[in-house]
This record gives sequence, structure tokens and C-alpha cells, in this order.
Amino acid sequence: DMGAKLLCLFLVSALVAYYVYTPIPEDFEEPWKVMLITAGFRTVSHLSEVADQLGLMHYMEALMLITAAEYIAPTSDENVTVTDTEFSNVAIRLYLPRKPSDGLRRAVVYFHGGGWCVGQAGMKSYDRLTRWTSSRLNAVVVSVNYRLAPKYRFPVQFEDVYSVTKFFLQSSVLSQYGVDPDRVCVAGDSAGGNLAAAVAQQLLEDSEVKTKLKAQALLYPALQTLDLNLPSYQDNENKPILPKSLMVKFWSEYFTSDSSLREAMTSNRHVPVESSHLFQFVNWSNLLPEELKKDHVYTSPAYGSSELAQKYPGFLDLRAAPLLASDAQLRGLPLTYVLTCEHDVLRDDGVMYAGRLRAVGVPVTHDHAKDAFHGAMMFVSGPTELAVGHRLLNRYIEWLNENL
Ligand SMILES: *[C@@H]1O[C@H](CO)[C@@H](O)[C@H](O)[C@H]1NC(C)=O
Ligand SMILES: *[C@@H]1O[C@H](CO)[C@@H](O)[C@H](O)[C@H]1NC(C)=O
Repeated sequence: DMGAKLLCLFLVSALVAYYVYTPIPEDFEEPWKVMLITAGFRTVSHLSEVADQLGLMHYMEALMLITAAEYIAPTSDENVTVTDTEFSNVAIRLYLPRKPSDGLRRAVVYFHGGGWCVGQAGMKSYDRLTRWTSSRLNAVVVSVNYRLAPKYRFPVQFEDVYSVTKFFLQSSVLSQYGVDPDRVCVAGDSAGGNLAAAVAQQLLEDSEVKTKLKAQALLYPALQTLDLNLPSYQDNENKPILPKSLMVKFWSEYFTSDSSLREAMTSNRHVPVESSHLFQFVNWSNLLPEELKKDHVYTSPAYGSSELAQKYPGFLDLRAAPLLASDAQLRGLPLTYVLTCEHDVLRDDGVMYAGRLRAVGVPVTHDHAKDAFHGAMMFVSGPTELAVGHRLLNRYIEWLNENL
């Protein structure tokens, strides 16, 4: 009867409202839009979980379907010629400016985000970001489609982006594209920022590479696996669009699908006591400013079994966790741009890296966006367009324009 139907309707509405509702920090612009975007991501995540539980496909492969839905083929426009090709047998999307140039051009080698598991250079949002970078800076942009987990594990992702960068930095290749060898940078967001930081570090030690990077730009990067309970992980456990549980999944999937690593990382007991010396490099008690420590109390690390680190040594490897580099290893790094967002589990990774680089004399520009969440720069077009996305993107391109 009518009453039962109304009750039903009421219950369903309440459930939907509960599901859509995410507490949005007060200083966010366009809170409703952010809430809907978050609900969209949460829905996809839940559906992927269901597909995984039913044995239909791996969780990450299901998440990858969004990437496919967001894909656009390489399309040239009046300013930029866009092609899909390969450098050193790795797929790339190449953006070549069409405007004439007085002299040699600048270049950006870009690594997209997506937790080493999802994403691709041809997603609309990344295509926009790299196309605008190319067009506005009159620069060559190489956007790398490195291979992804779960099919490929660490260090494949790193090796792919490294070999593309190394290939591009050869003087014969730079001159073929009219690029100034003194004005090349690496850049990336999230997992791509992780890869950019790792590439910049490894290039310092590679005697085969003669061309030095001018700069690195790290956009809300993931930089360490050691402490997954930093104040930023605690403060932002359920913020849009990267909850802690998903970040832990991304980290563990980078190395293995073995759930014992994920479980150990979830409880932050994955590092063996033999590696205790590494905690000095992620010690937020020393490395975070007071305003981010707030009322968090530093506790000594909890250690796990050595078996995990023996089986999956990647999570303690510098190429996966660039924040674990010693000061001596950081010293030679190029001019650095770091963007961090207040409402991001990865906030403290970026803040600590910027601080450590500065302390050893690397010139750093650190922008901290107080009203932004992880991945905000992806939302620059279509129904999910956000003012904060444009603001962060413009600022990044402006920095490159002034410093590259
Ligand atoms: C090409 O560049 C001009 C000038 O910078 C800009 O106004 C225009 O929007 C660009 N076109 C595209 C398709 O991005
Ligand atoms: C972290 O820093 C604090 C404060 O300086 C210090 O007491 C603590 O021993 C350090 N912990 C580690 C693991 O380095």
C-alpha cells in the first residue's frame, strides 16, 4: 500500500544520501560538485571490489575501465601535433608545438598518476594537461605510457619511464626535436610524481647520461612506503578522491597481489626492525612544520616480520620510495617544484621531501594548496570541471614557464 511504498522510498533516499554524502571541508569551493565526484569514485571503487570478489576480474583491472572510458585518440589541434609512438620500446604520447620558435625549445617528460596500476597519457584529463603545457610553453612534451600493475610490478614502471627519459636525453634525439639540452624537466602527479622524483635521483648516478635535468615538478607525489600512518594519512583517511585504503592498495599492488603485504601496510607494521635506520628519513616529528603536526603525537615505529621485506624488497627501494634517499643523495638534485594539498593522504610525503631538499641546498618552490584534495588538477574539463583544478594547473604551468 501507499504507506509501505513511501517508507520504501524514504529508506532508499536515505541510503543514497548516506552513500553520496562525504563531509567536505568548509574551505572547499563547489562542495556539491566535489561531493558528487567523490560519490562517483566511490561507486566505481565498490563495483570494482564486487567484480574482484566475484572473481570476474582483478580490482585494478576493473578500476582501469574508467581509464578506458576517459580515453581519447591522439588528436592534433592548431597549436600542437599529437602522435602515439614509442621511445626505447615504451609507448609514449608525443606533443610537438606547431608555433615557430626563435631558438631551441623546452621539453617536459611527463608521467601520469594512477597508483602505478591505472591511468594513461590518453585520458582526457592528462591529454589536456600535457597539451596545454606544450601549447603554452611552446615546449615538446613526452607523456609516457609505462606498463602497469597488476600485470607488471615494480620496477617495470620505473624502468619504463627511466628508459624513455634516458633515450630522450641523448643529444641526437634532443636535436632531432629541436630541444635545448639545458631546458629539460621531468614532471608527474601522484604515482607519476613518485616516478619523476625517482628518475631525477637515479639520473644523478648514471654516468652514461651527459645531459642534466633543469628541473623536476612533483604534483602531490607519493614518496615513501615506510610510514603509512603519517598525520596526513590520519587526517585525510576518507577525503576525496584517494582514501587511505585505496592508497595502501596501490602501494601493495605495485609490488604484489599477496594480501599479507596489504594487511601489514594497513596496520603500518610492514617494515622489519633491520630497516629501522630508514625511519630517520620519514620522521615527521622532525620533518613536519608545527601547523601540520597539530595534536598528533609521535610514536616510535612498530616493526613487522622480515619475511615480507625479503619477499618484496621493492617497498624499501629508493626507486619506489625516493624520500628514503640520504642527504648526500639528494644534494645534486635540480630545481624543484612541489605541490601539496592539505586534504590529501600524501600531503606529508611532499612536505617532508620539499623540506629535506631545501635543507641540503636544492632550490625548491613548495606550493601548499589549503583548499585542495588529491588529484584536483585532473578536474579541468567537462561536467567534473573545478575552479581549484584550473588554479593548480595554471600555477604549475606558470612555474614551468618561469623556471624551465
Ligand atoms: C592555441 O593557442 C592560442 C594562443 O595561445 C589559444 O588562444 C588557443 O585556445 C589554442 N588552441 C587550442 C585548441 O588549445
Ligand atoms: C624521530 O624524531 C624524534 C624527535 O627528534 C626522536 O625523539 C625520535 O627518536 C626519532 N625517531 C626515529 C625513529 O628516528
